[in-house]
Amino acid sequence: MSPTRNCLAIVLAAGEGTRMKSAQPKVLHEVGGQPMLAHVLDAVGGAGAHSVAVVVGPGRDEVAAAARKVAPAAQIFVQQERLGTAHAVLAAKAALAAGADDVLVLFADTPLVTPATLSRLRGALADGAALAALGFEPADATGYGRLLVVKGELVAIREHKDASEDERRVGLCNAGLMALSGQHALALLEAIGNDNVQKEFYLTDAVEAARKAGLKAVHVLASAHEVMGVNDRVQLAAAEAVFQSRKREQAMREGATLIAPETVFFSHDTKIGRDVLIEPNVIFARGCTIEDGAVIHGFSHLEGAHVRSGASVGPFARLRPGTDLGRGAKVGNFVEIKSAQVGEGAKISHLTYIGDASIGAEANIGAGTITCNYDGFNKFRTEIGAGAFVGSNSSLVAPVKIGEGAYIGSGSVITQDVPAGSLALARALQSEKPGWAARFRTAMAGRLKKRP
Ligand code: UD1
Ligand code: MG
Repeated sequence: MSPTRNCLAIVLAAGEGTRMKSAQPKVLHEVGGQPMLAHVLDAVGGAGAHSVAVVVGPGRDEVAAAARKVAPAAQIFVQQERLGTAHAVLAAKAALAAGADDVLVLFADTPLVTPATLSRLRGALADGAALAALGFEPADATGYGRLLVVKGELVAIREHKDASEDERRVGLCNAGLMALSGQHALALLEAIGNDNVQKEFYLTDAVEAARKAGLKAVHVLASAHEVMGVNDRVQLAAAEAVFQSRKREQAMREGATLIAPETVFFSHDTKIGRDVLIEPNVIFARGCTIEDGAVIHGFSHLEGAHVRSGASVGPFARLRPGTDLGRGAKVGNFVEIKSAQVGEGAKISHLTYIGDASIGAEANIGAGTITCNYDGFNKFRTEIGAGAFVGSNSSLVAPVKIGEGAYIGSGSVITQDVPAGSLALARALQSEKPGWAARFRTAMAGRLKKRP
């Protein structure tokens, strides 16, 4: 792509989405833990758009807010009435009038389009076309607009409802996305009428408008997976499946081993290093970074967690937001960690809850340890020094500090700070009654005999 050409991206997000049967606007439904709209905005950013306009339906403040979260400079336009795709693009007329070399039009419910494909569309403009439409060949073309191509040039896009029998036999379909030369875009869009079956202003009619003006229109091909549109929850799940298989392949190509990739689920922002081993049935929710050489054992759920080099997690572990697991640290089965820094080489091997805490390097946290961080109103911190040893089944009632190298006797309920290097015991002393067991058995046996 020529770096000298600038680009305006117009993202149509005014869909009604009634088939989602949801209280939430369609384009805010998530793929890979991120709204579909955000995927599209990421893609236009990746394709070098210098400015972005998002067209939303009336009263859709939450859609505008979601757009600004990913693209703070995005201009928001409202399409008051839903009169067709060309009409929707013209809602962003002020952005078009500001001038751009390339104008990309995208649908916010088509979340899997890649920057590479958008760059190919822009490339067609750089090569002299005034319009480049994105085409694909679906298994079933019913319902899509058809690309009518003669001698390599696009002569028209015919909506299914307006197409003749012959035109309906064409397998090459319109994905809906389009690149327009900024120099001509406004004139082409304003030339479009609504003389068609649906009485809508069709963006696709920009092709014939371009031909009439003596301008060249072409198409660029994409895979059916990439241009999949989402109208209902079944298609949402299909898009999620494509997204997941892309992320799995990317993790493996970049040096991670996934034993059963089809059982591992990523978020849009998951970062996986080299020589990471991921066992089956692992979920990475938002905000995870897994550094080189870490091992994530099966059935673990991670969110907002940073797992540093060589650390190991699970099986059956839950890392919640704010977990920072140090190099070579170990978190074993049935352990939950939240908002906690775990030092290098520390071990939390079994059945433990660590929340709002810091744990020093090489500390050992015994089975069943609980940081009691919450009194129903406030959260309090627990600080455990390097090399400390917390005996099994201990409750650490926060706020509390365990000094470096200190020992906590098993079963303790620790309510006061423990100085470095000392032993704290906070449990009832054991008492013994010699011979008690035999006396008890004899007494019980006597009672059994007396029963009628
Ligand atoms: C559109 C294309 C069709 C293509 C298909 C691919 C047109 C005229 N047709 O048809 O060639 O094969 O997509 O899926 O472009 N929208 C608005 N405001 C409107 C109308 C639509 O914002 O007034 C938005 C919708 O929210 C949606 C997109 O534009 O994101 C496409 O609109 P839709 O009505 O789904 O068009 P299709 O009939 O699917
Ligand atoms: Mg559609």
